[in-house]
Amino acid sequence: MKKIPEEILKLHEQLCLQIGEHNYNYHVLDTPVISDREYDKIYQELLDLETKYPALITDTSPSQRVGGKPLEKFQKVQHRRPMLSLQNSYSTEDILEFNKRVKKFLNTDEDIEFFCDPKLDGLALELIYEHGKLTSALTRGDGTTGENVLSNIKTIPSIPLQLKTSSPPELVEIRGEVLMFKEDFLNLNEQQQEAGETPFANPRNAAAGTVRQLDPKIAASRPLRFFGYGTGECKGQSFKTMKDMQAQFAAWGIPTTGFTDTLTKNKSQNRKILSLSTLCKNADGANDYYNWIHHIRKDLPFEIDGVVIKVNSLQLQEELGFIARSPRWATAAKFEPEQAITKIKQIVVQVGRTGALTPVAIMEPVSVGGVTVTHATLHNQDEVDRKDVRQGDTVKVHRAGDVIPEIIEVLSGKRPNDSSPFKIPKKCPVCGSDTFKAEGEVVTRCPNPVCDARLKESLKHFVSKRAMNIEKVGDKLIDLFVDKGIIHSFSDLYKIEKDQILSLDRQGEKSADNIIQSIRASRNTTLPRFIYALGIRFVGEQTAKLLADKFLALDNFLSAKEDELLEIDGVGPKVAKSIIESLSQKKFVHEIHKIIQNGVTIEKVKKEKTSSKLTGLTFVITGTLPMDRDQVKTLIESHGGKASGSVSKKTSFVLAGESAGSKLDKAQELGVKVISWEDFQSIIKADS
Ligand code: IVH
Repeated sequence: MKKIPEEILKLHEQLCLQIGEHNYNYHVLDTPVISDREYDKIYQELLDLETKYPALITDTSPSQRVGGKPLEKFQKVQHRRPMLSLQNSYSTEDILEFNKRVKKFLNTDEDIEFFCDPKLDGLALELIYEHGKLTSALTRGDGTTGENVLSNIKTIPSIPLQLKTSSPPELVEIRGEVLMFKEDFLNLNEQQQEAGETPFANPRNAAAGTVRQLDPKIAASRPLRFFGYGTGECKGQSFKTMKDMQAQFAAWGIPTTGFTDTLTKNKSQNRKILSLSTLCKNADGANDYYNWIHHIRKDLPFEIDGVVIKVNSLQLQEELGFIARSPRWATAAKFEPEQAITKIKQIVVQVGRTGALTPVAIMEPVSVGGVTVTHATLHNQDEVDRKDVRQGDTVKVHRAGDVIPEIIEVLSGKRPNDSSPFKIPKKCPVCGSDTFKAEGEVVTRCPNPVCDARLKESLKHFVSKRAMNIEKVGDKLIDLFVDKGIIHSFSDLYKIEKDQILSLDRQGEKSADNIIQSIRASRNTTLPRFIYALGIRFVGEQTAKLLADKFLALDNFLSAKEDELLEIDGVGPKVAKSIIESLSQKKFVHEIHKIIQNGVTIEKVKKEKTSSKLTGLTFVITGTLPMDRDQVKTLIESHGGKASGSVSKKTSFVLAGESAGSKLDKAQELGVKVISWEDFQSIIKADS
C-alpha cells in the first residue's frame, strides 16, 4: 500500500475535526454556521481523499458513521464499573427524607448542595472514549455486563466520534441516556404505519428497539439522541463536582441537558438549546426544582419520568458510597404517572387512505398531565374486544409514552345497564360498501377505491408537507372540496378555479388567491415526493426515495417490473407486490398521466456521475476491500459501471480483496480477469 504523505494525513485530520465541529453546531447547539451545501462540500472532500488513500479510513472518520453490514449479534462486554440504579422518591417528604439520610451519614448539619437533572426516560448507555476516540458503546445489560452497540450508536450525529480537545484523557466512560424526541417519535410512527409496520408504543420503546436491532442502516434512518449525565471509569481525568463534569462534557462536545441558574416557572423549555440542569443550595431548592420540572414537563421535547437529585461534590459522593445496588448520594424523584378518568361519549369509525376502518373513542374532555385529551384510538376490533370498551363507559386514560392518549381500562362498575359490546360495522360508514377483513389481518377495510373517505384521506396525504407540500390546502378544505363535488381525484386539484373556491363558505378573495398560488407552486416537484404523494400502500418516504434513486424518471418507475423492485436493497416482496398491484391498475396510471397533463413537472433525479470510465463494464466484488461493499458499488456506478452479484461470462472484471472466496475460483474457471483494489484505483484515477 502507498505511504501517505504527511500533509495528506494532516488535511484528513483537519477535515475530520471540521466536520465534527459542524456536526456539534448543527445537532447539539442547533446553530449551524455554514450552509448545508458548504457542509456537503467539505464532506465530499473527505470522501474523495479517502477514495484516493483508503488507508485513511479509520473507525472514527465521519465517513464511517453508517458502515458495514448488519451484525449477527452484539458482543457482550463487562462494564469496568457496574451500572447501578437509583432509589426512588415520589414526593416532597421523600426528598426531605433523602436529604436527612445524606446529612446523617456525613454526620453534618450544614446544607448539602445538590446538582439536579431531569430523569430522562430512554435507555442507559455508556460511551467509552480511549485517548479521545469513541471505541465502544455499551448498553446497561444486567448492570455488570452490557452489549456493544457501537455500530448503531455511531449513526447518532450528535455523538462525537472524537472528543473536542487536543489533550484527551487516556480513558473516559460517559454515561447517559439514548432517547427519541416526542416529535421525531410521532413522525417515525407515521412512517411505520405508512410502511405497514407496527408502530412503537412510546418513544422509549422506539429508541430501545432501534439501539438493539442489528442493522446500522436502520439505526441511521431513525432520529436518536443522546444526553450525558455521569461517568464510569476515568483515567487521566477527574472532576470536583457534577457541575464541572457537565461543563467538561459540553467542552468535549458531548450533549447534555444544559445548565440554568434560574427556574423560570412560566417559560416554555421547548427551546432549541436546553438549559435544564441546575445547582440547588439545599433540599428545599431541590424540591423547588422537582416542582419546576413537573410544571414544564409537558413542554419538554422529550419524555422524562422525574428528576435526579445528586450530591454535587464528588468527594462527598465518594464518602457516601453505595448501599446494595444504588448510590447513597442520589435519588430519583419520580412523578406519579399521569392518569385521568373520563367518559366515552361515542365510538366513531374512521376510514383511512388505505380503506382501514379504525374505531376511535370520543371522550368528555379531560386533562392528562396538563394536556386536554378528547380522542383515543382503539386500533381495531381485537383491541376493542380485549379491553371490552363500549359507548357510555367510564374509563381510565393516560398518555402512552406521554404523547398518545390511550384507554388503560374500563371501570366496569360504572357501566350503564343498557350497554352492549362495540362492533365495527359490516358496511363502510362513508360509502356503504360491504367491509372485509383479509386473511391473517386484524384490520377491517372498505374495499371501494373511490370511497369519499378514502379519497379525502388520500388527498390529505397528497397535499401534505413531505409529499406535494400544498401548504394552503388543509384538511378542512379537502373535506369541503370533496363534499361539494369540486374534486374527485388528485389531478382535479390542478384544475380548481378561483370562482369554485369563492363559492365555498368563508373564503375571501385573498385566501382564494393564496390557495391557487400554493397549488401552482407545488407543481414543480421531485420524483421521491411525487412517488410518496401517490400513497401506494407500504411506500413511505424512505421507500419512495429508494424507488426514485433506482428508476430516476417517472416513466421508468411506471413500467417497473417486480424483479427490478426486488433488486432494491430495502424493498421486500410485500412492498414490491403492492407497487405492482397499484401500477397494474389502469385507472391509477391514467390518473398519474392526468396529473402530469395538468401541469405537474418532476425534476430529474441527478445521479452524481463522476466520469464515464467504467461505462459498459460489469464488476463483481469479492473479499474484503478497504471500503464497504455498498460504497464500492456506488463508486463503480458513479463512473458509469455496473456492479453485479455473480460471476458470469459477461463479467468484465472481478474486483478481489483479501480472503476472496468462491467467486475468485469461478472467475478463473471462466477466464474472467481478476483485478486488485490498487488496479481498480488506477483505472478510475487514470487521465481520460
Ligand atoms: S445518574 C447510579 N442522571 O435512571 C446511577 N441517571 O434508575 C446514577 N437516568 O440507570 C445515574 N436520567 O439510566 C442519572 N439525569 C440522570 C438520569 C439517569 C435517567 C437513568 C439511568 C439510571 C437510571 C436509574
